[in-house]
Amino acid sequence: MPDVPSIPENEQAYGLQGVLEHSFERTRHDGSGTLADYIPELAKADPERFGIAVASVSGEVVGVGDVDVPFTIQSISKALAYCLALEALGRDKVLAHVGVEPSGDAFNAIVFDALSNRPFNPMVNAGAITVSGLLAEAFGAEAFEVVLDRFSAAAGRRLAMDETVFRSEAQTGHRNRGIAHLLKCAGALGAHVDDAVDLYFRQCSILVTATDLAVMGATLANIGENPLTGSAVFAVEAVRNTLSVMFTCGMYDFAGNWAFDVGVPAKSGVGGGILGVVNRQLGIGTYSPRLDAKGNSVRGIAAFRDLTEEMGLHVFDPTNRGSSLLSAYRR
Ligand code: DON
Repeated sequence: MPDVPSIPENEQAYGLQGVLEHSFERTRHDGSGTLADYIPELAKADPERFGIAVASVSGEVVGVGDVDVPFTIQSISKALAYCLALEALGRDKVLAHVGVEPSGDAFNAIVFDALSNRPFNPMVNAGAITVSGLLAEAFGAEAFEVVLDRFSAAAGRRLAMDETVFRSEAQTGHRNRGIAHLLKCAGALGAHVDDAVDLYFRQCSILVTATDLAVMGATLANIGENPLTGSAVFAVEAVRNTLSVMFTCGMYDFAGNWAFDVGVPAKSGVGGGILGVVNRQLGIGTYSPRLDAKGNSVRGIAAFRDLTEEMGLHVFDPTNRGSSLLSAYRR
């Protein structure tokens, strides 16, 4: 049995807040990447914003930088909407419409699984629009309220939608409308194209902060119960299935690299957020709106790499022995 490294005494003394501050300092200087501009409103974000927040399953929340600056959740909504759909409609119904295979393609790729004629997974646009279609069919005119309520319960506070970003995407999202029409043609989408796309654009436009993402992540880490409010938000089985797909597909065509280097289930959004889940331990939320070519936040990736390395949080890291490691940091 190889030796398991222990945390140096001086690092333990930093505490969780100290660990975040050091990660922030090491990663904040990277000015590379560009703002998403294919949704015109997103190009107005302040590129300098950067925040890292962490929430533990015991309810501790710490952060550094711009952790209270609101931005739109964008594709991170795909993970939470999938969790909601699994719970509301059942695994079999959802699996009949959307697969769970990594596609290796860009998030907005116009490609379906050739064997099943269904979207590869719920984290790419085709799969997420299908999931929104399932929710639109199941909840009708109430669908967005149901989504907003559940996202709010996961964050532990009442969230709201950014009307301007919603309109900006609704007016320019021709590619997503095209994908929805192809899904309809392939028989994957039961809902009306307009209903599915409308819900998808609305859920993407929900405003969150890095702290919200950390708490949402902690709710998933805490097998569906929000550790701050104590409310049961998602069913256990739905959480397990969602985390599995986040692990294999959450970072699109970067998912393999992410699993290798960072090793926690995660989901990114073009608004600049990344939500990560350290199972049974932590939620991590980052915000920095400059994106790489794959649509993932540059400094968000750097911060996750640094933080998970620093704390040994990779799911297969020998130092990740469950909450004992974190307790040492939080002493
Ligand atoms: O489908 C879209 O274009 C957006 N509303 C969401 C895309 C997104 O966030 C991709 N993530 N990196």
